[in-house]
Amino acid sequence: MGYSKIIGTGSYLPERVVTNCDLESRIDTSDEWIVSRTGIEARHVAADGELTSDLAVAAARRAMEAAGVGPDEIDLIIVATTTPDMVFPSTACILQSKLGVTGGAAFDVQAVCTGFIYGLSVADKFVATGQSKCALVVGAEVFSRLLDWNDRKTCVLFGDGAGAVVLKHAEAPGIYSTHLHSDGNLGHILRVAGGIAHGQVRGNPFVEMDGPAVFKLAVRVLDECSREALAHNGFEGPDLDWFVPHQANLRIINATADKMRVPRERVVTTVARHGNTSAASVPLALDGAVRDGRIQPGHLVLLEGVGGGMTWGSVLLRW
Ligand code: UT7
Repeated sequence: MGYSKIIGTGSYLPERVVTNCDLESRIDTSDEWIVSRTGIEARHVAADGELTSDLAVAAARRAMEAAGVGPDEIDLIIVATTTPDMVFPSTACILQSKLGVTGGAAFDVQAVCTGFIYGLSVADKFVATGQSKCALVVGAEVFSRLLDWNDRKTCVLFGDGAGAVVLKHAEAPGIYSTHLHSDGNLGHILRVAGGIAHGQVRGNPFVEMDGPAVFKLAVRVLDECSREALAHNGFEGPDLDWFVPHQANLRIINATADKMRVPRERVVTTVARHGNTSAASVPLALDGAVRDGRIQPGHLVLLEGVGGGMTWGSVLLRW
């Protein structure tokens, strides 16, 4: 059957940066609180007219350029997003058109902050089995539009951005395995309980989060699913060259790395500069570490995510 392998990465961040000090002047918060509780110092926020597909197209073009792949070669596009441009068509179909891709399948995956891990897992199956020859997987979000900017418990945490990878078939890993999980009974601890009906917004269109409950769950499930991925493939934490986790909170990242016995210098973190960009956070971090030369051919890399649903999962791969 074979494997799939990432052959190019790309990312994009909107120009505007909002620092903790900017927020201090608008709401009852402090740089000291945000940094000590989360590790976040700043986040990027999309311009008014900038849509998820605009961020996605910039990241995708960079990934395709890095992979040396043109629009005619892409036969599968998966966009992981919680903030689609519109109800339909899917952001993946909009991206397909913007990229000038004319064949294959395009669809969105909705697993909130685990979305990229879910999307990459689906694409892996298509490419490893030969059903797709060349897949584009994008995590893209304008999460800032789901925030009540007067709610200090949520608005300080998130940012906007996009990251992308191109996958091709390979005879050797590539992706060793992916492991996905969800527990719908925990939907209430992190949600946007709003929707469109009869021409109006029904419910609450802003993020609601029980922060401590999400924190506890995240530390537990990220540890469990890293053990699962490593044991499934006969590895242990110290074997990892790089750990690229979802970027929500530095305390969650550090606690998970410590449990796995992965030294801090082998953990890729962007949360300080990006905040939590939901489905974009893992591919943004991955692209950063690939482009600055930290991730090298032959390295063992673990990607992990956790988010609304609740959902969580992992992808273990050889670069
Ligand atoms: O991407 C999906 C995954 N999401 C996450 O992983 C988020 C997980 N949760 C967290 O990261 C943390 O729970 C938070 C960073 C959201 C909150 O940190 P915490 O240490 O759990 O704080 P808390 O919610 O227990 O709140 C502690 C205090 C409260 O005040 P009182 O009730 O003790 O007087 C809050 O009102 O901190 C207060 N607080 C703030 N103070 C200043 C909450 N937000 C802020 C704020 N600035 N922005």
